Amino acid sequence: MRRSLRLLAIIVVAAGTAPLSLRAEPGTLPGVYDASQAHVDYMLKCQGCHRPDGSGDDRSNPPMRGVVARFLGVPGGREFLGRVPGVATTNLDDARLANLVNWALYRFDPGHMPANFTPYTPAELGRLRQDPLRLDRVATRARLVAGFAPDP
Ligand code: HEC
Repeated sequence: MRRSLRLLAIIVVAAGTAPLSLRAEPGTLPGVYDASQAHVDYMLKCQGCHRPDGSGDDRSNPPMRGVVARFLGVPGGREFLGRVPGVATTNLDDARLANLVNWALYRFDPGHMPANFTPYTPAELGRLRQDPLRLDRVATRARLVAGFAPDP
C-alpha cells in the first residue's frame, strides 16, 4: 500500500513538471492562428537565408535567434520588422505573413518579447510592406541596433 502511494506521488510530481511545450495547446501564441503553417512558410520563404534554427550566418544574413525581438523595444523597430525586404516582399498574403512574423518572434526570441506585445495584424503588415526598405535599410538597421537596451 505504502509503496503504491509513493509511486502515485512520483507520477503526480512528474506530470506536474512536464515541459511547457508538451502541455501548451497548439495555436496559443498570440497572433499565430496556425503554427504549422507558419513553420512551413518559414521553411519555404525564410530559412534559406536565416537558417532552420534562426541562427543566420553573421555575415550576410542576420540571426533571429536570441535577438530579433529586441527590435520591438526601440522606437521604429516594430515598423522596421515589417519593412525589411525579406518580410515585406515575400509572396505570402498579409494574413499568412502576420501569422509567420508573430510566430518567428516567439519561436526565435521568446526571451526578449515585451510583456505588453501586441501581435502584428494583417492590416498593419499590409500597410508596412507597401513601403519596403531599400538601400536605406543598412543604416536604419544599424541605428536601431545601436539603440538596443543592454542585455541583462
Ligand atoms: C535572401 C535572403 C533573405 C530571405 C529569403 C529572408 N531574409 Fe530576412 N533578412 C535578410 C537580411 C540580409 C536582413 C538584414 C536587413 C537587410 O539588409 O535586408 C534580414 C532581416 C530580417 C529581419 C529583421 C531583423 C534584423 O536583424 O535585421 C526579420 C524579422 C527578417 N529578416 C525576417 C524574415 C522572414 C520572416 C523571412 C521570410 C518570409 C525572411 N526574413 C526572408 C535576408 C533574408
